[in-house]
Amino acid sequence: MELQKYICLLLICALGVLVHGSCIESEKRALLIFIKALIDNSNYLSSWVGDDCCAWQGIGCDNITNHVTRIELQYGFLSGKILPSLLDLKYLTHLDLSSNSFDGIQIPEFFGSFKNLIYLNLNYSNFEGLVPHHLGNLSNLQYLDLSNYDYSWDLRLKMDSMSWLSKLSLLKYLDLSGVNLSSVIDWFPSLNMLSTSISVLHLSNCHLSNNVPSHLPSMNLISLVSIDFSRNDLRSSFPLWVLNNSNLAHLSLRANNFYGLIPESIGSLSSLTLLDLSENSFQGSVPQSITNLTSLSTLALAFNKLSDSISPEIGNLTELTSFFIAFNDFRGSLPETFCRLKKLESLDVGDNQLTGHIPKCIGKLSNLNELNLCDNSWEGFVTEDHFINLTKLNSLCISSHSKLISRISSEWVPLFQLEYLYMYSLKVGPKFPHWLLTQRKIQGLILSNASISDTIPIDWFLSLFSSSPNVDLSDNDIFGDQLSLISRAPNGLGALILSNNRLSGELPAFLCSQTTLRTLDLSHNKFSGELPLCLGNLTELIELDLMNNSLSGKIPSLGVLRGLQYINLHNNKFQGKLPLSFQNLTELFVLDVGKNNLSGVLPTWSAEQLPNLKYLILRSNNFYGAIPTQLCHHSTIEVLNFADNQIKGNIPACFGNFSAMVTGDITPNHLDYWGSVQMMDSMKGYEQVYTSTLQFLFSIDLSNNKISGEIPKELMDLQGLLNLNLAGNHLAGKIPEEIGKLKNLIFLDLSRNELHGPIPQSLAYLNFLSQLNLSFNDLSGRIPSGNQLQTLNDPSIYAGNEQLCGHPILKPCATDTDSHIVEDHNEVDTDLDSDDEHMWLFAGLGPGFSVGFLGFCLTLHFSKIGIHVSNLANRFLGR
Ligand SMILES: *[C@@H]1O[C@H](CO)[C@@H](O)[C@H](O)[C@H]1NC(C)=O
Ligand SMILES: *[C@@H]1O[C@H](CO)[C@@H](O)[C@H](O)[C@H]1NC(C)=O
Ligand SMILES: *[C@@H]1O[C@H](CO)[C@@H](O)[C@H](O)[C@H]1NC(C)=O
Ligand SMILES: *[C@@H]1O[C@H](CO)[C@@H](O)[C@H](O)[C@H]1NC(C)=O
Ligand SMILES: *[C@@H]1O[C@H](CO)[C@@H](O)[C@H](O)[C@H]1NC(C)=O
Ligand SMILES: *[C@@H]1O[C@H](CO)[C@@H](O)[C@H](O)[C@H]1NC(C)=O
Ligand SMILES: *[C@@H]1O[C@H](CO)[C@@H](O)[C@H](O)[C@H]1NC(C)=O
Ligand SMILES: *[C@@H]1O[C@H](CO)[C@@H](O)[C@H](O)[C@H]1NC(C)=O
Repeated sequence: MELQKYICLLLICALGVLVHGSCIESEKRALLIFIKALIDNSNYLSSWVGDDCCAWQGIGCDNITNHVTRIELQYGFLSGKILPSLLDLKYLTHLDLSSNSFDGIQIPEFFGSFKNLIYLNLNYSNFEGLVPHHLGNLSNLQYLDLSNYDYSWDLRLKMDSMSWLSKLSLLKYLDLSGVNLSSVIDWFPSLNMLSTSISVLHLSNCHLSNNVPSHLPSMNLISLVSIDFSRNDLRSSFPLWVLNNSNLAHLSLRANNFYGLIPESIGSLSSLTLLDLSENSFQGSVPQSITNLTSLSTLALAFNKLSDSISPEIGNLTELTSFFIAFNDFRGSLPETFCRLKKLESLDVGDNQLTGHIPKCIGKLSNLNELNLCDNSWEGFVTEDHFINLTKLNSLCISSHSKLISRISSEWVPLFQLEYLYMYSLKVGPKFPHWLLTQRKIQGLILSNASISDTIPIDWFLSLFSSSPNVDLSDNDIFGDQLSLISRAPNGLGALILSNNRLSGELPAFLCSQTTLRTLDLSHNKFSGELPLCLGNLTELIELDLMNNSLSGKIPSLGVLRGLQYINLHNNKFQGKLPLSFQNLTELFVLDVGKNNLSGVLPTWSAEQLPNLKYLILRSNNFYGAIPTQLCHHSTIEVLNFADNQIKGNIPACFGNFSAMVTGDITPNHLDYWGSVQMMDSMKGYEQVYTSTLQFLFSIDLSNNKISGEIPKELMDLQGLLNLNLAGNHLAGKIPEEIGKLKNLIFLDLSRNELHGPIPQSLAYLNFLSQLNLSFNDLSGRIPSGNQLQTLNDPSIYAGNEQLCGHPILKPCATDTDSHIVEDHNEVDTDLDSDDEHMWLFAGLGPGFSVGFLGFCLTLHFSKIGIHVSNLANRFLGR
């Protein structure tokens, strides 16, 4: 019986071969012409020989008629031209050219003439230019994928209209991700005209920026199973029409500007398995109904403004594998019911306001791979129980703004092997935790602000790290002179951050063998001696921070380090000149060599060679000579500090050319301290961190030099300026009347000069001015009154100007008849007072820029942490 069947089958097959032995001659010819115009560097099409084209790689024929119905050349890495000879394949239903390199050519218009085409996939095929409307003629098309998941800003493909898509009445699947749709007017109404049978709609990273209407009177989009609008610039409240797609399984609105509440009715989407609303501005509480979505496997709400507590009913979502709520404002404790989510692989609640104890039962979530509990306000203890069954754990981040103490026995042998261990701002010390010795795969270690008071266990350090490890042991009380041993780490360090400890000794030449080093931060320690000349070997170096040590000798030539962006040698004992080779540091944006014993003339670097220079701090050295006008070409400069040197000559009028200071606009810095894990996203995290601090850093400080001449009125064009300190020079002439144009100014110190004439009335209109000092000049006449000047009533700021009169000094003006002394209101702008960043400025820039820049550096250090933490978050978010 069986045998008969078998023989029968064989016969049918033989018959098949007989009848369908070779393909249709004309179609074979068409294919051969097609291949001739292709460039096939990977020999992908080497099987295209012989008579039976149906047997060729990537060709499929109808098994009855023998017509070619499929061309599937995915991952062919083919390039070249596509000839219309293909049109001879009249029965083609499937065309898949995905993952090829048709760079520089357009999607051929004739593709619109394959009347029978059901399936067209050009994903990642690198076509360029306008998508031809002719594709709208493919009336049988069900599947259209033109996506290109290339996150670069310049998208290759674009569309100028989407209305032709409505002609594709059978379309079920549409993916235009990575196609530039920014010039499509009415893209949303066009979508609503798509076939009602459409079930997959992916428009990620399409440069869409208009509103998505929340409601439409009639919606055609009701059969969708998957919606992806991520990575656009959409602004609106939650698009309610989405909820009419009752079979929706996959919804991503990630990385847009959606705002407002997440609607309670989201709980009706009972088939939802993925909900990603991260990186928007949703606020309020998460609707309770979300806990009805029992099919959910990914719930991503990170980077929003969500608040309130996490409902204990979250424990109903037993299918959850990923839960991301980092960077929100969630409060309260982490409910124990979390521990019912046995399938959880990634749990990220970092950067919220969670309090209380970390539930011990987390240690039983044995599928956990990534656990981020950082930057909350946990209290109590971290114990071995918290990790008892976490055999698969790969990344762990744990820190607290409150009092969290690690109580892990030093004998503990964890069941996991971590790649990333970030434990900071909790008490781990005083000794280095011994259990770290069991971890053999560490790539990133942060043990900062962990109350460690110990020497570095060198054997541990040397054996711990595998490829490109990043180490941050900052803000502890680590002492000793083991840098020479650390720098013998065998495998290439990526970042070494030891700042704010008590480490001592010299920087060993061995350090130069760590050629993979990108960040070297030894600031705020007790290192001494000269820098090894070979530092120039660290060709990957991006950041060099040696601030506040006792290093001496000459600064070595670092001009070969083309990637160097940040050099901070502040507060050391360096001597000699600035190396000429700094001229070659094309990426440099911060140079701080303040508070050293450097000398020589001011550098005359050309702006072409240092196009990114923003912060140039040479204060408290022995630089002499005139200010070179070449400096003015550096239009990017935001902070210029030459205070406490021996500088002579005039302030060049061309200072008015510091256009960054004119506009006060922030251009993002392309810093990437911790490797390029996720460049795009880490830049976003980076901007967040920086915009809140750096916008306050538009500053010129030339105080305590020998500068003469007048204050150029061009300086008054720098409307972004916040700090102008020219005190302690020989400036003469009048205070420019236009000073009122510096409307953002917070600090103005012109004391100890030879300025004469009246104080311009326009000074009273500087609404943010909170520290003013005009003392010890030759100013005369009535002190202007009104507005902001009312609040600056310390008479000492006008002292030493014999001919000044009026409030707040006691000398009445000759013309004063009623000699009224204006009431002391003391109504300093409270807004400013309460603002932390301003507080920082008050503490910093005012009394002299030194402390201010220190503050800046600390902030910068903090933001380094900010960067890698958000990188971590990114990793948790699966980018
Ligand atoms: C022919 O193709 C159709 C559809 O592709 C398939 O269902 C059928 O089993 C095939 N017949 C034979 C004899 O291979
Ligand atoms: C196909 O579409 C284009 C543009 O939409 C149109 O100009 C052309 O006439 C159509 N061709 C056929 C054969 O329908
Ligand atoms: C969408 O859903 C809402 C509420 O369920 C309903 O009132 C509305 O009629 C639906 N709209 C369409 C177009 O189906
Ligand atoms: C160190 O940790 C404590 C306790 O969590 C925290 O309050 C403090 O701000 C942290 N300091 C730094 C520099 O991070
Ligand atoms: C310099 O570093 C030491 C630690 O070595 C620290 O105590 C001190 O406060 C730092 N000074 C400044 C100005 O930051
Ligand atoms: C700067 O780089 C150029 C090559 O780009 C090199 O010729 C020159 O010597 C370098 N200058 C210094 C001072 O290192
Ligand atoms: C400053 O800008 C003006 C106007 O843009 C220009 O003419 C002048 O050459 C610039 N000066 C310097 C030194 O860059
Ligand atoms: C103003 O400057 C003088 C001289 O530089 C200084 O002695 C005085 O303390 C300053 N006053 C204020 C309020 O800063």
